Amino acid sequence: MTGKRIGEGRTAEVQEYGTGKILKLYRADIPAEYVEHEYEVSKYVHKQGIQTPQPIELVTLGERKGILFQQIHGSSMLRLIGEKPWRLGEYARQLASLHHDLHKLQGPEAFGKQKESLRSSIVAAPMLTMEEKTPVLEKLEQLPEGDRLLHGDFHPDNVLIDGQAWTIDWMTGMSGNPAGDAARSVMMFSMGALPPGASLSTRLVTGFIRQRLTKGYIREYLRLSGLSYAEVNAWVLPVASARLTEGIPLAEKEQLVREIRRRLRSK
Ligand SMILES: Nc1ncnc2c1ncn2[C@@H]1O[C@H](COP(=O)(O)OP(=O)(O)OP(=O)(O)O)[C@@H](O)[C@H]1O
Ligand SMILES: [Mg+2]
Repeated sequence: MTGKRIGEGRTAEVQEYGTGKILKLYRADIPAEYVEHEYEVSKYVHKQGIQTPQPIELVTLGERKGILFQQIHGSSMLRLIGEKPWRLGEYARQLASLHHDLHKLQGPEAFGKQKESLRSSIVAAPMLTMEEKTPVLEKLEQLPEGDRLLHGDFHPDNVLIDGQAWTIDWMTGMSGNPAGDAARSVMMFSMGALPPGASLSTRLVTGFIRQRLTKGYIREYLRLSGLSYAEVNAWVLPVASARLTEGIPLAEKEQLVREIRRRLRSK
């Protein structure tokens, strides 16, 4: 690999690749179908007019798969929030508006269905007993299925800004109910453990920013979508349980389990 490294996430390394292009090179343990799925969803959303980097080509390099994308010369919204926290309110509203715009698109069933994906993750979730999973699964069954395009991992590190806002990272794109996609975003903004060594001031500042981002986002998302808080909140229990299968820090999983148990008690 020769290009300048410009980013690294949980699934891939991102580097410059020729003029105006980047290569998102997935780790060897990421199944090829997941990469193909990201490529297909990216092509679909790009074609539908969502502001997303143009997917150019699927490539194979030895054991690893990659996707060539149009390069965006900007920073992630997360980084901008860190640099200009006084503009947090604007960013929160912009995030809600981007999310609501993508929910206007129909989500092809071939991308996979939200409730099916949640069901299998809840069944596989570590740290919960069968007695806890059963009511979560019952709750999921009662929720209304939808047919909209969902991002599945919509947060400010998956939005790049260069004057315009570009939504990236479509590996978890699927078809379903936007309320569940919004619930997942709210859960990610409001929870998420800090590294064990984080100082008290970091904890306080981060806590404050998280709270303001969550409130600003949900207020605007409800306003734009016409959904009620209860309609979104109803998805938190299944969405939080499903998240336990993800490769997130143990402290964050413990926080999720506390929240899940609290919600199960108050049902
Ligand atoms: N088209 C692009 N143009 C410029 N930079 C990009 C582009 N796509 C990704 N990046 C950079 O690479 C980083 C990681 O990209 P992306 O979120 O797609 O990867 P990931 O490994 O799936 O991340 P995650 O940890 O969220 O799973 C981004 O935060 C951004 O800095
Ligand atoms: Mg990402």
